[in-house]
Amino acid sequence: MPLEFAPEGAAALPLHVIEQDALEDWLSGQSATVATWVQAAGFTGGLGQSLLVPDGNGAPEMALAGYGTEAARKRGRFHLAAQAASLPEGVYRLEGLAPERAAEEALGWLFAGYAFDRYKDQKPAKATLVAPVGVDAARLEAIAAGEALTRDLINTPTSDMGPIELEAACADLAKAQGAEIEVIRGEALLDENFPMIHTVGRAADQAPRLIDMRWGDTGPNLTLVGKGVCFDTGGLNLKPGSSMGLMKKDMGGAATVLGLARMIMALKLPVRLRVLIPAVENSVSGNAFRPGDILTARNGMTVEINNTDAEGRLVLADALSFGAEAEPDLMISMATLTGAARVAVGADIAPYFTDDGVLSGALDAAAHEVADPVWRLPFHEPYEAMIEPGIADLDNAPKGGFAGAITAALFLRRFAGATRYAHFDIYGWNQSAAPGRPKGGVGMGARALLQALPEVLAL
Ligand code: BES
Ligand code: ZN
Ligand code: ZN
Repeated sequence: MPLEFAPEGAAALPLHVIEQDALEDWLSGQSATVATWVQAAGFTGGLGQSLLVPDGNGAPEMALAGYGTEAARKRGRFHLAAQAASLPEGVYRLEGLAPERAAEEALGWLFAGYAFDRYKDQKPAKATLVAPVGVDAARLEAIAAGEALTRDLINTPTSDMGPIELEAACADLAKAQGAEIEVIRGEALLDENFPMIHTVGRAADQAPRLIDMRWGDTGPNLTLVGKGVCFDTGGLNLKPGSSMGLMKKDMGGAATVLGLARMIMALKLPVRLRVLIPAVENSVSGNAFRPGDILTARNGMTVEINNTDAEGRLVLADALSFGAEAEPDLMISMATLTGAARVAVGADIAPYFTDDGVLSGALDAAAHEVADPVWRLPFHEPYEAMIEPGIADLDNAPKGGFAGAITAALFLRRFAGATRYAHFDIYGWNQSAAPGRPKGGVGMGARALLQALPEVLAL
């Protein structure tokens, strides 16, 4: 049963969580047979170690999970996901874990049950956990399901996850959660005044579209906007092969807001939720938009295209203008927007921008609580001049590339109007496997936001 806990009351093998320094003490309370077995197996309590301990008949009597030292644990998260992956199939019950670590470890255990197996059999963890006492099991299961959705959407290559399939995935989610969905496709984007979404997406075989999903009828209005560039070739400013290889993940923002939306809907948060996804492919063809073109955005601003590879801010701009027109209480965008964000903070941290101190305070605390690292970067006003080229209102790709994540964020803010706003420049990809986090697509910032929302929106 992947991504779920064992039913309450299931027969379970005790899994003793043992810190390295506490092993000797723990062994002194065990029988000589157990102590001999543990020592003979070389179990030291090191982080990630696991060991089955048999009874006199050779049947498993208990299992041990090495929990290392605090210093070692600080270098990672979801530590017990390592044991979830290495222990044999069966049901386990945690013993000896500090209660304040239980929620993170239980969630990591669920994450270990995820594998992307659409194209090949994979081996997700088969060890199931009884939800530790004191954790909200249903909440963690909803979070794990949302995260799995995000990962699946990102991992699926563009051959099976173009704008058409991304729309279908949204429709499936809407149906399952009782949300409503409207989609504006192709030429209709021009009639309905989404010129930049149309321009970026028009060179691709699959028509560009704006997906608009709504759910909930009470509470504050929350609008999530996700960059849904299903593949980013760079357009006529073609990316070199080494930079294009991973660009199936350029809809990581869309995937992450959909994962977050799934969590919000499954948990029935008292909000009126709207999800806006401009879904396009940034492709190359005779009708592709060109460097030097000047576009007029939905809100009337003119934008000089100085690089067709800075396409994310263009499609998001029209979606943000549209979102802001409804004056929501909070609007959040998520996007794999700039390489500069990666240079600044690496793949593991989600940088975000907001002018709202309450939001950033709540978010930083929540991020720490749920092990979903984020870091605030500034909407630095003096850099506004860098996105103003001269013959149009805005420049989509300021020369020099200094502060690339900040100038991209400032560009987006021009379209959010007076709406309370935060923007996340995420990577959406885990570069090397870690416990509970296989290499591949991954959600960033969604769990921190989920945790922060009650305070941010006074729910
Ligand atoms: N999708 C990319 C950004 C990206 C690249 C995110 C690699 C994660 C990993 C985006 O559309 C892009 O190409 N941005 C350019 C903007 C520049 C031309 C102003 C960038 O960051 O180099
Ligand atoms: Zn690009
Ligand atoms: Zn892109």
